[in-house]
Amino acid sequence: MNRFQEQIVLISGAGSGIGAATAKQLASEGATLILVGRRKEKLEEVAEEINSEMNVESAYVYSADVTIEEEVELLANYIESNFGRLDVLINNAGTSSGGPILSLEKEEWERVQTTNVTSVYLMAKYLGALMTQSDSLNKSIVNVASLSGHKAGAKIPSYSTAKAAVIHLTKSLAGELAPYQVRVNSVSPGFVETPMTEDGLKNPKFSQAIERHTLLGRVGRPEEVAKAIAFISSSDASYITGTDLLIDGGWLTV
Ligand code: NAI
Repeated sequence: MNRFQEQIVLISGAGSGIGAATAKQLASEGATLILVGRRKEKLEEVAEEINSEMNVESAYVYSADVTIEEEVELLANYIESNFGRLDVLINNAGTSSGGPILSLEKEEWERVQTTNVTSVYLMAKYLGALMTQSDSLNKSIVNVASLSGHKAGAKIPSYSTAKAAVIHLTKSLAGELAPYQVRVNSVSPGFVETPMTEDGLKNPKFSQAIERHTLLGRVGRPEEVAKAIAFISSSDASYITGTDLLIDGGWLTV
């Protein structure tokens, strides 16, 4: 499949986990990638792997903190000057937890909201603006929300609140950008084995509870989320906008 041939795709938080897996998936389908994150070395590792696999330079690295407005504006300028347009934006950068409200410091609450929600707003503001000007046939934004955005977690209120906001923001953006033929969707992964969940999954009680609650009886793999992101961001999903795609192994179903 070459669904992303000649398409310019930006993935935030692309140095690890779901972001890195998505970068590899989209590269294998022909995308030109801009890998964005704070940790340049991690991004470079992913880019090197992709470029040597593809035998051509198709992944570029740009180091930025997606919660800082000036950095996001500079990122949009960099893309406009170097690539001329942006076709697909995958807002994957995020952070977890925060802890229960009664012991949660305001700074920590704000860190979780800013990283998960404000970043999506900033990226949509500056990069969405760039996308509206493009006459590309597939223009699409995918925001990585979470199962926690559907099912509130008593122990992670700041995270589940933030991810619920991402799902809602996705729908508002879909309405705003539809006149420009920019589709906007979110995906909501369940429990996926990545650096974010690594410590939790080391606890057998926790991983067994996940297996019990999940219809498919196991934790997800980043590659499984990457394939769903590839579908919903591609022209195969050309009539899908404003929706959320659960990738949770059936957790919410029964
Ligand atoms: P991860 O920790 O490997 O990936 C998060 C990435 O975002 C990291 O590379 C991190 O450096 C980057 N990032 C964080 N803050 C940033 C900032 N201010 N600027 C730029 N980059 C920043 O973990 P994972 O699991 O791959 O997470 C990816 C997304 O998937 C996150 O939005 C997460 O909330 C979401 N998610 C993950 C689930 C899981 O079970 N692993 C379940 C549901 C959603």
